[in-house]
Amino acid sequence: MHPSIRMALWAGCLALMNPSLRAADPPPYLNPAQPIEARVADLLGRLTLEEKISLVHGDSKFTTPAIPRLGIPQRWFSDGPHGVREDTGPYTWISMGHTDDFCTAMPVLIALAATWDPDLARSYGEVIGSEARKRGKQMLIGPGVNLQRTPLNGRNFEYLGEDPWLASRIAVSDIRGIQSQGVSACVKHFAGNNQEQDRMTVDVEMDERTLRELYLPTFEAAVKEGGVLAVMGAYNRFRGVHCCENDYLLNHVLKGEWGFQGLVVSDWSGTHSTAGAVLHGLDLEMGTELPYDDFYLAKPFLAGIRRGEFPVALLDDKVRRNLREMFAVGALDPTGPTGAINTPEHQRMARRVAAEAMVLLKNENQILPLDPRAIASIAVIGENAVRLQCHLGGSARLKAFYEISPLEGILRRIGRGANVTFSPGYSSGSAGDGPGADALIAHAVRAARSADVAIVVAGLNRARAIDLKDVTGPNHSLHFDAEEADRADLKLPFRQDDLIRQVVAANPRTIVVLVSGGAVEMDPWLDRVPAVLQAWYGGMEGGNALASILFGDVNPSGKLPCTFPRKLSDSPAHALGAYPGRNGTETYAEGLLVGYRWFDTRGVAPLFPFGFGLSYTRFAYSDLRIVAAGAPGEPPAYSAEFSVANVGERAGAETAQLYVRELRPRVMRPFQELKGFQKLFLQAGEKRRVSIPLRSRAFSFYDPGRGRWVAEAGDYVIMAGGSSRDIRLQGTLHLDHTTVEDPSSPR
Ligand code: BGC
Repeated sequence: MHPSIRMALWAGCLALMNPSLRAADPPPYLNPAQPIEARVADLLGRLTLEEKISLVHGDSKFTTPAIPRLGIPQRWFSDGPHGVREDTGPYTWISMGHTDDFCTAMPVLIALAATWDPDLARSYGEVIGSEARKRGKQMLIGPGVNLQRTPLNGRNFEYLGEDPWLASRIAVSDIRGIQSQGVSACVKHFAGNNQEQDRMTVDVEMDERTLRELYLPTFEAAVKEGGVLAVMGAYNRFRGVHCCENDYLLNHVLKGEWGFQGLVVSDWSGTHSTAGAVLHGLDLEMGTELPYDDFYLAKPFLAGIRRGEFPVALLDDKVRRNLREMFAVGALDPTGPTGAINTPEHQRMARRVAAEAMVLLKNENQILPLDPRAIASIAVIGENAVRLQCHLGGSARLKAFYEISPLEGILRRIGRGANVTFSPGYSSGSAGDGPGADALIAHAVRAARSADVAIVVAGLNRARAIDLKDVTGPNHSLHFDAEEADRADLKLPFRQDDLIRQVVAANPRTIVVLVSGGAVEMDPWLDRVPAVLQAWYGGMEGGNALASILFGDVNPSGKLPCTFPRKLSDSPAHALGAYPGRNGTETYAEGLLVGYRWFDTRGVAPLFPFGFGLSYTRFAYSDLRIVAAGAPGEPPAYSAEFSVANVGERAGAETAQLYVRELRPRVMRPFQELKGFQKLFLQAGEKRRVSIPLRSRAFSFYDPGRGRWVAEAGDYVIMAGGSSRDIRLQGTLHLDHTTVEDPSSPR
């Protein structure tokens, strides 16, 4: 819409809401030229007590009410970490059945993390932000950034993997992208919400260093660097207190140390008491299973203020934070981005992210990429080749405009160039055993035997057949990458291990494509299968992206954002028996040793290590130099500079990773930690110099005694390479002085 038309419509709306606002000289809060704080202060002064109360709790599943006399519009929130959720409610979770609430379904967030590409994450955020804006949503509830502590977490697919540095870079860019579109982002779930089992009640205990060094940094980056406008409190308890009422997390750390000025919104039904919410940092209560007026921050809060139990100043602070969010996204302004839905550019971006996210785990004898001219027949096997995945489940659900399945992507790419057959191979509709399953396997084996190549699209999803118009139920079922329950184990369900073994016995040219939100056990067949590709849930362009990788139009460049363990008991929380907790409490016994920090420190061999991913080309690393970059007297700053060359025959991308280890630490430190990375797109034969900054935090640990970050004087090993287990260059660096930093300092 043309801005002048928008302006006229807005003036009309305001006039309808309240004719006195038509005045030629608008009040300061309606003047976009005024600084936000001045607008907030002005509007706050005009609100009645009741109106203020109405802004700190929901009046339907996803709204707060309009205040027409002041021109405050109704505020709409929407889920949609990878695409704007369909409209529900307003007073139930059931889909409204609208026909105008479809969206571009992007790949899930774990896939975005697997791209290791912050620029792409920015574009990803722009796509979903722009669609949210177009759909009239003021806040997009995402990204989810809870660290992957166990591969079983049912929501790992919605999060950004096991490393806080990687997750921070992706989250910050995604948030900036979303918020550039006039929509606020809401980073979630703060904090320690690392499993779905007992999520509403589990009491998470961890030591302070673990909290500060692993579980908080992505939130901290979202606040300090991403400028995120909202933070969602988690369901679980932390050190005995529910996170939405947790004074330490919300008031002390988030608002105190980090200086967060935005609003803290509860997870839906995460609020448990009026006093806890009022006093301990909650600014907006949503989703409580009570009549809206009876929400803890509704009538009971008002009554408490009237009785003098709570000072009005506490309410004012909450309202200020809500108003700041409104002004920051231009909710009261006539102009701003208009947003767009499902544009060709959005579709291209969905495809690009999906392709860049795919991780080539194995490629013996360069069986991939497939040469379409040399292949006469392909047996595509596996239900996941035809399952639609985008709708996902829980709060990650959405209605995709369309979805290209793996089979469709392959058919489109290959055209009439080869005879393509499809056999389901297994059935997710049954327990997967019995004669029916044998017949499915036998059929697939026959197809594989008579084809040049077999592609088994395996994985986790247990979907019933999806009718695009039917979005009343979750696509993914519990225990298979879905909210509210964790996975039961790492095994492929429905006899898929058997299927793969028999297919590869019939045709050694078998490629396994894994459609899942994380690791599965591969030991039953990995040594027999020449190629394995981790495809995640690739969004509505996933099938096209997959075909582009299989046939070599795109060179794979994804790297694992999480360790793939050989077996569950190799993973720290399981090796130590800490998961899923005892008597309602879960003590994070592994402490700092999460993911590769555990595998590398304890010398456990992973199936595929953190940061790993193959390419159709090869990269050479050379000439590492560590250069001092900071001014004297300032916290230590260096840059690690080295060269990466594409020494193969094809253009391709490499994510060069930088790990740091303190040589003789005074306290326990993990064997190595990721402190920088850069993704480089290189033509065949091209060589480029990389420069990765290493600031003070790259050397620091959190000292709980001092409540400070400490970079100790001493020697540090700086390692550059293509994964956590593929270090190509190594140098040392000596810090002459110990530096101590305040937690409020910029990261
Ligand atoms: C989920 C949140 C989500 C909210 C609103 C909760 O159950 O944990 O991630 O944003 O519902 O749908």
